[in-house]
Formats: sequence, C-alpha cells, structure tokens
Amino acid sequence: MPETATPGAPARLDARRVRADFPILSTVNRFGKPLVYLDSAATSLKPRAVIEAVDAYNTKYSSNIHRGIYEIAERATSAYEAARVSTARLINAPDAAEVVFVRNATEAINLVAYSWGRRNIGRGDTIVLTEMEHHANLVPWQILVQEKDGDLEFIPITDDGKLRLEVYEALLHLRPKLVAFTHVSNMLGTINPVRELTEMAHAAGALVLIDGAQAVPHLPVDVQEIGADFYVFSGHKMLGPTGSGALWARRELLEAMPPFLAGGDMIREVHLRRSAFNDVPYKFEAGTPDISAQIGMGAAAEYLMGLGLDAVRDHERELAVYAMATLRRDVPGIEIYGPEADDRGGVVAFNLPGIHPHDVAQILDRDGVCVRAGHHCTMPLHERFDLAATARASFNVYSLPEEIDALATGLREVSRIFDR
Ligand code: ALA
Repeated sequence: MPETATPGAPARLDARRVRADFPILSTVNRFGKPLVYLDSAATSLKPRAVIEAVDAYNTKYSSNIHRGIYEIAERATSAYEAARVSTARLINAPDAAEVVFVRNATEAINLVAYSWGRRNIGRGDTIVLTEMEHHANLVPWQILVQEKDGDLEFIPITDDGKLRLEVYEALLHLRPKLVAFTHVSNMLGTINPVRELTEMAHAAGALVLIDGAQAVPHLPVDVQEIGADFYVFSGHKMLGPTGSGALWARRELLEAMPPFLAGGDMIREVHLRRSAFNDVPYKFEAGTPDISAQIGMGAAAEYLMGLGLDAVRDHERELAVYAMATLRRDVPGIEIYGPEADDRGGVVAFNLPGIHPHDVAQILDRDGVCVRAGHHCTMPLHERFDLAATARASFNVYSLPEEIDALATGLREVSRIFDR
C-alpha cells in the first residue's frame, strides 16, 4: 500500500511510522521471530505515549484523586479529569460529565443492566438484541430478564453476516423497552448501520445501547450523530491500558439511574441510616478507580485523534480488502466468514476445513504470528454458522500488509503439515 500524499487530500495513516511508537513491535519470540500481532480485537498494543502517561502517574504523582489538597493529589485529579475530557472528545459526547469511567465495556453494560435495567424492566417487557452479540452484551440481559420475568428477542443475521432489518422492524412491533447491539462485530467484522437501527428503535419507543468496543478504536464515532442513549467501550482495545473503559449515556438517563456500586467517592454525604449521592459521573465511580489506567486511556484517545479516525478507518479497510484477497488467493480451501471486505472492520475470522483453529494458532505462533482461536466470546454466533470455533486475524493502526503475507505463508504451512 503506497503512502503517497495527494495535494489537498486528507492525511493517510503511515503505519510504518506509527509502528515506531509501539516498543513491543521490536521484540522477537522464543524462536527469534519478530512479532506479527494479528489479535488486536482481543486487546491492542500500547504506544509509548500511553506507556509514558501511566509511568508518569506512578513515578511522579502517584496519589488518590478527588481527595487530597496537596500538589501531587491535585495533579492526579486533574490528569484523571483531563482523561475524561479526551475520552468525551473521542466520541463527540456533548458533556464530559456524561462519561463514566469503568474497567471495560463489559462492566459498562453490567452497570446499565443493574442500574437502569432493574428500575425499568419488568414482567413481560422485551429487550431486543442481535445474534452477533459478544457474551458481554447478552449474558447481563439474560440475567435481568430471568430475574424480572421479561423476554429477549434477537435480530437474526444473513449468511453474509448482516442484520436482517425486515425482521428487526417486525420485532419493534413488540414495543421493546431497550434495543442493544454491537457497532462492529468482533467475529464477522460487520459494521452495523447504527444510526438507522437507533432511529428505528426510537420510533418504536425503545432506548438504545451500543457496544462500541470494536468501533471506537477503528472508525470515527459520534454519539450525537448516532443518537444513541448508551454507548460503551473498552480502553484496552483502543491502545489504552487494561482496566480502563467508559460508559457514555445521556445526562438525564444517568441522573435518573440509581448507583450500581456504592462506597466512597460516589456520595455527597453519609449518615448511619441514609446517604445522598454525588453528581454524575461520580455517582457511578465508587471506590478508588484504576487511576493510571484511565489516564492512559485519555492518552490513547489523544493519540488516536492525532492519527485521525478517518485515516485509521481507511488504513484498516485497505488491510481487510488485502487480507481477504490474499487469503482467498493463496490459501486453498480457506473459509472466511462475514461480509465483503469493503463493508467490514479489520477483522477476518476463518477456518481451514478439517483443521482445528487451536492447531492453526499454535503452528502460526512458531512464526511469531498471533491470531485468536476459539469462539471469541460469541458462542451463539458460532452456532448460527454451525461452527465450533474459528481462527481470527484482526488489525490495528500498526498492522501492515506484509503481516498478512506472513499469515498466508503460515496458513499454507499449516495445510502442508496436515497434508491438505
Ligand atoms: N472480546 C475480545 C475478543 O473479541 C476479548 O477477542
């Protein structure tokens, strides 16, 4: 992929230059092979800017937030709150106070299910999900409707991994209270038409929760333009540290919701028999949070915005196109799941018929090629395609076409070893 600039054209992402920002990419495996990291959908690598932001907290101003009135504590508070502002800018949230820091997208969905869900879902109420949800956007709702005697309905998907909108339209006649769906599928790579899905849900009187874990790191996300009610994502998939994440929700929803976890920092005043709760977002941030991780997530948001999310999306679209063409051409018999490359994020799940994906991943590992094998926390989606498991390659800002070539070479070697 040439990195030539056309005068007046938007800046392209220069992945080779970007790679210099990721120290781990200069490491080698136990066989002396360089790292070919194709598992960014599981967790992304971390750039120096993020590592240094975390390090600065630990080495220069390690202290608690929202409490101390000495210099380093004030510095910690201001770095933590600056991270909230950066995170809000990344998704164009109208107000940083609408961003609640959590450990990951899973915790954000559980927060909504426990807080909003237990107050708003009752006997006979319906929640609409899709067949392509990550377990994180399925199991909390199963637990909720089992407890409340509600119902779950599912938007089915086509053989090429897209939502069947005509069935969705029919499900909306059930007048669901909530529709929850992923923005980008972590197995199929499908990019869902989130604005259209949201408008349809609102017209039927439902609120909308979007799982943006696989979207925020990879394409421009504007929660105001989408019109969502709740939008969740993880820091560790967007070049930030593990243990960081965010729930964005409209302020009036957050204000009406009861606390999820209770304790320090989420209160305004406490007496032996009653307490008054803090304002949003602090009402939902009980206890000392993972301060350095959230500061690192803020640094990751700034780093991504510096690259430009349009450029990130273009880069990963080109990688998806290249990957599907290369694998189909060079790896006989490979089965690839999901939509065509132009319509998908940088995720390619596949199988070599008759070879278990764990064997595929283990052989690729010898050459330093890291892919995920298994059900990718989407067992119902694998059942939909009658699959026990898949192998999955996933890309990020630092991924190169040469790494896809290395994957194709490795897969041919896997086929040779299994004599297929
Ligand atoms: N949800 C992450 C993945 O898809 C862990 O791999």
